[in-house]
Amino acid sequence: MNSMIKKAVIPAAGLGTRFLPATKNTPKELLPIIDKPIILYVVEEAIKAGIEDIIFISGRGKHNIEDFFDISVELELHLKQKNQLDLLERIENVRNLANIISVRQKKALGLGHAVLCAKPVVGKEPFAVLLGDEISIAKDEQSNTALESLVEGYNKTEQSITSIMKVEKSEVSKYGIVALEKTEDESLFKITDVVEKPSLQNAPSQYALPGRYIFKPSVFQFLENLKPGKNNEIQLTDAMTLEAKKNGLLGATFDAKRFDAGDKLGYLMANIELGLQRPELHEGLKKFLIETVNKIN
Ligand code: G1P
Repeated sequence: MNSMIKKAVIPAAGLGTRFLPATKNTPKELLPIIDKPIILYVVEEAIKAGIEDIIFISGRGKHNIEDFFDISVELELHLKQKNQLDLLERIENVRNLANIISVRQKKALGLGHAVLCAKPVVGKEPFAVLLGDEISIAKDEQSNTALESLVEGYNKTEQSITSIMKVEKSEVSKYGIVALEKTEDESLFKITDVVEKPSLQNAPSQYALPGRYIFKPSVFQFLENLKPGKNNEIQLTDAMTLEAKKNGLLGATFDAKRFDAGDKLGYLMANIELGLQRPELHEGLKKFLIETVNKIN
């Protein structure tokens, strides 16, 4: 994809408490969906949208993520000796996907702080942010992922832009929620305010942030000067409000399927959806699902 956006920041420093004990010594981003870790789907989405440099924001106990994208000498030699060349190619492809840069977030001060940690690497370019436990899968090969829709929007407007999605009223308190206005372009909305995890009463709409963003570097200035917000954390959404008011922020809906793989139910759903998309698993899984559904009252 032809894009001005070459760098993507993937915050992956969270402790993964929702998946304990599985995440006690395995980063949640490495939990597998079928045979690929969650983070690989996220990195593949970034690459598909034209990203070349992946900047992981990692924390203690997360070095396995970097290792996953690095060479594994023993394993590759073993596969070569056993003539398992298909597997060898898959492993080689993973490490050749992108330039991997890793930045440590030494204190868990919030998502806004995690993104700010990337400032020295991003410099003065516009950049993407993809949350490391959210998966967005294009409906088919011709359709866009969430990030590709953002790249298209950015290329047209050169304004900071975020994915938005409509959620149930019962869900607004789980997300950043935006106040928005229509624009002349049907696919783009003007965002006027962003509220982190509001109560339903205080929610400016039912449009939520699913974890895909493109920012102009101006967002770093706002992040640098923020005081802790909701839950005493440096909130990305607070910087987004300032960006919206001072420089403009757009919202773009998307057609792709999105799963919150950092949530148990979302993780199971992603496994089923992606399992059904695999030709070698499709029939067996479909049969099992139909039989199982018929047995549920
Ligand atoms: C974060 C953001 C929130 C966003 C959400 C998407 O919250 O702070 O604005 O809507 O990701 O999943 P978290 O889920 O990390 O609490």
